[in-house]
Amino acid sequence: MPFFHRHPPCQSPLQAVFWRDVFLGARVSARFEQRLSAVADQVEAALENLLSPHVRSGETRRPARLLAAMRHAALGGGKRLRPFLVIETAALFGVMPEMAMRTACALEMIHCYSLVHDDLPAMDDDDLRRGLPTVHKAYDEATAILAGDALLTYAFEVLADPATHADPFLRSELVRLLAMASGLGGMAGGQALDLEAERAEKPLTFDEILQMQAMKTGALLAHGVEAGAILGRANHLAMARLKKFGALIGAAFQVADDILDAKSDAATLGKRTGKDAQRNKATLISLMGLEAAEKRRDQLVDEAVAELHALDLGARTDVLVEAARFVAGRAS
Ligand code: IPE
Ligand code: IPE
Ligand code: MG
Ligand code: MG
Ligand code: MG
Repeated sequence: MPFFHRHPPCQSPLQAVFWRDVFLGARVSARFEQRLSAVADQVEAALENLLSPHVRSGETRRPARLLAAMRHAALGGGKRLRPFLVIETAALFGVMPEMAMRTACALEMIHCYSLVHDDLPAMDDDDLRRGLPTVHKAYDEATAILAGDALLTYAFEVLADPATHADPFLRSELVRLLAMASGLGGMAGGQALDLEAERAEKPLTFDEILQMQAMKTGALLAHGVEAGAILGRANHLAMARLKKFGALIGAAFQVADDILDAKSDAATLGKRTGKDAQRNKATLISLMGLEAAEKRRDQLVDEAVAELHALDLGARTDVLVEAARFVAGRAS
């Protein structure tokens, strides 16, 4: 079934439109759509299980309101591109999707937490996310902060658990690298630079924007590829190329997000648009205009695809090539 015809688990009218439009305009094959859709369903089921009301061994209680807010943040929406990258990169090396699923879910939980905090009044102050009210609107600010905190910490609990991988060294590498991608030198650091730039006396330079975007968005996307390569025990050469690939699609992803903010609408995206200009965000569009930003996005994707071809794995990399094209061509 094509991705846009599937029925997501939790649907508001806006969400239904969001899912239908995910692929409008994307230059990807029906096979890719089906694969992304299938992975999204599997990720949904795995997250549903991790976020069930059932109290786990070692836990005292799962406070209902906090859990509901975490579920609001993590279930029933999103393209699930980061988990897809984990699973499909691991698959390059013969790793079955179920063996990569917990790693994929940990990364998605970090991503969902980053969105909850990004939407807070103290940050981007948004009221719509994935076609639904943001977590602080549906609940309250304190609950949204705690839901983000709890998703963040749960991600590391999931990774460190022996159920994620039998090799403790490999697990500790996954933990270390996800922490780096999420923290001071990664997503959280990039978010700080993004907010500082709103109030900066002079606009960020080209290089400063690239660095800020590589940190706030690129790091987590690139980590998806890196984590998949670790699970696949990729050799040094393949790891280096895949890391480069991840960084390039990470960079392209934020440029595409900024373009969608400028060109699309809330019904299609499931989040408000036109906000970057309103909030004086530092983007490549604010620096060099829409057309130049579109050109750069497409160039980054071409460079990413070239890295994959250089891996010399033949048709095995086709799905990641399409993932790169999807980053640029997606409608939401
Ligand atoms: C949005 O990410 C936030 C950015 C990093 C730009 P996505 O566009 O992947 O959001 P979902 O997960 O599909 O909702
Ligand atoms: C957010 O970038 C990146 C994150 C780390 C969450 P944006 O602020 O542009 O993301 P959207 O547009 O709100 O999804
Ligand atoms: Mg932001
Ligand atoms: Mg935002
Ligand atoms: Mg944005």
